[in-house]
Amino acid sequence: MNRYSRVAGTGSYLPDKVLTNAELEKLVDTSDEWIRTRTGIERRHIAAPDETCSSMAEHAARRALKAAGQTPADVDLIVVGTTTPDLVFPNTGTLLQQRLDIHGCPAFSLEAACSGFVFALSMADKYVRLGEAKCALVVGAECLSRITDWSDRSTCVLFGDGAGAVVLTPADEPGIIGTHLHSDGRYKDLLFFPYGVSSGFDKLRSGAVAGITMLGNEVFRTAVRTLSRLVDETLAKNGIERDQIDWLIPHQANLRIIQSAADKLGLPMDKVVLTVQDHGNTSAASIPLALDTAVRDGRIHRGQTLLLETFGGGFTWGSALIRY
Ligand code: UT7
Repeated sequence: MNRYSRVAGTGSYLPDKVLTNAELEKLVDTSDEWIRTRTGIERRHIAAPDETCSSMAEHAARRALKAAGQTPADVDLIVVGTTTPDLVFPNTGTLLQQRLDIHGCPAFSLEAACSGFVFALSMADKYVRLGEAKCALVVGAECLSRITDWSDRSTCVLFGDGAGAVVLTPADEPGIIGTHLHSDGRYKDLLFFPYGVSSGFDKLRSGAVAGITMLGNEVFRTAVRTLSRLVDETLAKNGIERDQIDWLIPHQANLRIIQSAADKLGLPMDKVVLTVQDHGNTSAASIPLALDTAVRDGRIHRGQTLLLETFGGGFTWGSALIRY
């Protein structure tokens, strides 16, 4: 049994195509000013027609493996958080495994909407701690542009595509200090995608418009309240004080939600990794994308304490406290 897991390397990927707020002004009745002031978003990346969740995941995974000094052959577990899988099955983890040309290790994906990466990280951490994996690939990847209704201004300005990954390896010291996960299906009607396999793709075939559906205001209020409780819970359960957090790496849905979480922690915004302006909301990909951005630009150093926090459809929410 290993005592802990640690983040050995990070990687991410963004599609080349950038969609700006100005371009969205031509698609729907919106304005750059509205989008920036209400959300903080300035641009987002959109997958090319031949890109999928697993193809973006592959780029992020290869970069994370390289940063960790590992090769695909070392990987003995793959967990992908996504709500936009390539196919109903095989699962995206297995498709990623095939892309990496490795065979046999457990590879699966899980759905927890925007919380998918933190849920995947929590699961992989347990495999590594139990000695059941020595090189776990954890990915958050999304192709939200494919489930966005591009005629709905209340949602189409929010989302983007991309992927982020980390490699977890065993360690004598944390690493992942703790993860704290929650779900509550009472809120299922506030943020959802209205079609699925068993509830009927046939409705889609009848030509109905399909897109992410959200009661933005209510989601916003619940997110702020819930993330505030989550910060308290994470600090208390791990016996640490607010001033011991070096970096907050939040889910990147809305700048104003992020600001309220930073206030709660008493953290200045220059201690918060912000990518929402450049990536939009990439759901399960947003946290590992932000983490990798700040690792690669030199802001995050080994030994620093990171608080990852997420909130998404379900609702699902959770945090991970990490000594990087
Ligand atoms: O990632 C999972 C979690 N997701 C979130 O955390 C998202 C949470 N929610 C939000 O980020 C915000 O609620 C939104 C950014 C989605 C919306 O911001 P808001 O300040 O809550 O705006 P609102 O929905 O209350 O809409 C205000 C007004 C409305 O017009 P009226 O009714 O006041 O005349 C909307 O029709 O803004 C209008 N509006 C827009 N105007 C221009 C909505 N979308 C747009 C738009 N451009 N794109």
